[in-house]
Amino acid sequence: MDGLMPRAALVLALLASTPTLAPAQVGSPAGPVPVEYLAARRADLLKRMGNGVAVIRSSEKRSIEGDYPQDSDYRENNDFFYLTGLETPSSWLVLIARDTLPPQVYLYLPARDSMAERWTGARLGPGAEATALTGIEDTRAADLAERQIRSFVRSRTLQGGTFYLLLGKEAERDTFFQQLALGTGAGVSDLRPLLDAMRLVKDSDEMRRMRMAAEISAKGHVAAMRVARPGAWEYQLEGAAEGTFRSLGAERLAYPSIVGTGINATTLHYDRSRSQLQAGELVVMDMGAEYGFYAADITRTIPVSGKFSPRQLQIYNLVLATQQAALDSIKPGITLGRLGQIAREYMKEHSGDLCAPGTCDRYFIHGLSHWLGMDVHDVGNYATPLAPNMVFTVEPGIYIPEEKLGVRIEDDVVVTATGYELLSAGAPRTAAEVEKVMGARK
Ligand code: GLY
Ligand code: MN
Ligand code: MN
Repeated sequence: MDGLMPRAALVLALLASTPTLAPAQVGSPAGPVPVEYLAARRADLLKRMGNGVAVIRSSEKRSIEGDYPQDSDYRENNDFFYLTGLETPSSWLVLIARDTLPPQVYLYLPARDSMAERWTGARLGPGAEATALTGIEDTRAADLAERQIRSFVRSRTLQGGTFYLLLGKEAERDTFFQQLALGTGAGVSDLRPLLDAMRLVKDSDEMRRMRMAAEISAKGHVAAMRVARPGAWEYQLEGAAEGTFRSLGAERLAYPSIVGTGINATTLHYDRSRSQLQAGELVVMDMGAEYGFYAADITRTIPVSGKFSPRQLQIYNLVLATQQAALDSIKPGITLGRLGQIAREYMKEHSGDLCAPGTCDRYFIHGLSHWLGMDVHDVGNYATPLAPNMVFTVEPGIYIPEEKLGVRIEDDVVVTATGYELLSAGAPRTAAEVEKVMGARK
């Protein structure tokens, strides 16, 4: 059973008694996901499942010898974190939905190991503490997981039911899942669409994290604007932003930072950051923080000298107006595909002779928007009509390599009942706002 809520006092007592334990964002800047949110997400998923068994695995630790010099940055699988709030390697979440009986939820965690904990810190094992953090009453040792999951899937309770798996690349590589799927009489279904539809609409704990990610990222952009000048290096702008992200509580980057000056500004995912800024160039800075597992994705384009040239300003303002035309069209019911068309049509119609012969939309070589959430290019069906609390980017651009001129403006928005709210409003966006911040450089 998944419904019983631990009393707040019990949670606090358990957390206070284990100050070194950090299995669930305890002590992280974003804090743990409140148990009531986790329970609500699991209840929602169980309802969507109808009659079936779903298995969601945590991430695995990376090998110290093989993968990374140290494994200090364990990042939990997004779906596992979304449903448990935990950061626990080699763990399993099993949800069983049945037509006529109450649902069952099992959390499998590796047993504690005092020798291993001397190296990598205290871990969470099955028991009362795991229950307090997740709201899942039935916690079990992970070495029981495979045998028990097999029996759940084969059990009579699932006759006629569905066996839900995340059928991505990970599951394809996973021999346990493959054998189980082959060996069961139950129909095997992809859990992805059910979870994606849920993750597309953010709850208020997710929105708190997303707002903070965007706010921190905006401050990082301002810090980068302040160090930009002729002679500065791309990596110095990147360092100023990333240091700001980290000092404001971001635990990771949402994606590798992109800072490209001059011709590099026309390479969409340029990530070397090795060039020196020259007077007269534009710099495209696409940088975002991850805060409490949620991403921001912001791009600003700035003039190295502090002032846009007349030509740069015309292109910049066309990109900005295109973005505004898309933003003004956001409302529940419209699709991202339609917003993309609106942006492209706007740019085409308002190009004048800026990109003659032809119109500037031929230099807008990527899509307008993507879903944003636990991943920077987050899960979700792109045909879904917008609804409140969906979050995505709006990012038109014009890239003209022959002029070494690239402009992208990227903001993060959440859909409201009547329109949108700009989450990334803290980053100067109009040319005048950008010039003002750059004019105040020391
Ligand atoms: N930062 C990657 C993107 O804008 O999609
Ligand atoms: Mn983006
Ligand atoms: Mn971006």
